[in-house]
Amino acid sequence: MNFKQKYGDWALITGASSGIGKEFAKQLAQRGLNVVLVARRIDKLKQLADEIVKNYNVQAKIVQVDLTKPDFLTKIKEVTNDLEIGLLVSNAGMMYIGNYFDNTPENEIKMIDLNIKAPAILTHYFGQQMIKRKRGGIIYTASMLGFMGTPYSSAYAGTKAHEIVKAEGLAYELKPNGVDVLVLNPGLTQTEMTSKNDFSKMPMKLMKPELVAKSAINAIGKRTLVTPGFMNNMMNWMSKHVMSRKMNTKMFGGFMKKTF
Ligand SMILES: NC(=O)c1ccc[n+]([C@@H]2O[C@H](COP(=O)([O-])OP(=O)(O)OC[C@H]3O[C@@H](n4cnc5c(N)ncnc54)[C@H](OP(=O)(O)O)[C@@H]3O)[C@@H](O)[C@H]2O)c1
Repeated sequence: MNFKQKYGDWALITGASSGIGKEFAKQLAQRGLNVVLVARRIDKLKQLADEIVKNYNVQAKIVQVDLTKPDFLTKIKEVTNDLEIGLLVSNAGMMYIGNYFDNTPENEIKMIDLNIKAPAILTHYFGQQMIKRKRGGIIYTASMLGFMGTPYSSAYAGTKAHEIVKAEGLAYELKPNGVDVLVLNPGLTQTEMTSKNDFSKMPMKLMKPELVAKSAINAIGKRTLVTPGFMNNMMNWMSKHVMSRKMNTKMFGGFMKKTF
C-alpha cells in the first residue's frame, strides 16, 4: 500500500494556518492527499487552501474553529461528514513560557483544552472510523520538552508529556487494527510560537518547519516517536544515557530562564 492508499483520501490538520501545521498541509497535498485545514484565522486558511488547490491538484476544505470551545467537533463534523479522513494530524497547540504564577489558571486550562482535550476528542471521533476501515494514521505534535520536567514551561511540558505517553500506548493498541500512530517531538522551530521569546542563548538552533513536518511524514508507519534534527537527537541521547532526570530539568531550567 502506498502513502495515499494507506492514509487517503483526506488528511485533517489542526493548526494549519501557520508554522508546522501549514507545512504538514502542503506536504500531504504534495503526496496526493486532499486536506481539511482547521484553525481560527479564516483568511490564512483560505489563502493556504487556494495555494494547495492550485499547486497540488487536490481538494482543500477549511474549518474555522476555536478548538478550546466546547462545540468545536460539531463544526468539524459539518465539513467532514461525507469524507474519509485517513490521516489525523493533531498539531494545534499553545505554549506558555514564564514564571508559573505569572500565568493565570484560565490560561493554563485553555492550554490543557487545546493541547490535550481537543486531541482526545478528535482521536475518539476519527480513530474509530479508521478502525472500521482497518487503515489510517494519527500524528500528534508534542515537543522535546515533554521528555522532562521543564521549569518556566512546566505546564506546557506536562501537556506534551501526556501526548507522548498516550501516543506510545495507543500505537501499540491500534497496530493490529491497521492504524499507525506517531508522535512528533520538535525542538525549537521557527514559527509564530517562538517569535516572541529570545532563544539565542539555547544550545540548539531553530529548525525550519518544513523539515519538522517532513520528518513526521517520512516516519509514520515506520516508527512511533520521531525527533527531528541532529542536535535535538544528540540532546535526547545525552538526556537518556548520560544525565539523570534531575540533571535534565536543571539544565533546561537554566536555558528557559534566559528566554523571557
Ligand atoms: N515552534 C516550536 O519551537 C515548537 C517546538 C515543539 C513543539 N511545537 C508544537 O508544534 C505545534 C505547532 O506549533 P507551531 O510552532 O507551528 O506554532 P504556530 O505557528 O503558532 O501554530 C499554531 C497553530 O495552532 C493554531 N491554534 C492555536 N490556538 C488555536 C485554537 N484555540 N483553536 C484552533 N487552532 C488554534 C494556530 O492557528 P490560529 O491562530 O489561526 O487559530 C496555528 O495554526 C504546537 O502543538 C506546538 O506546541 C512547537
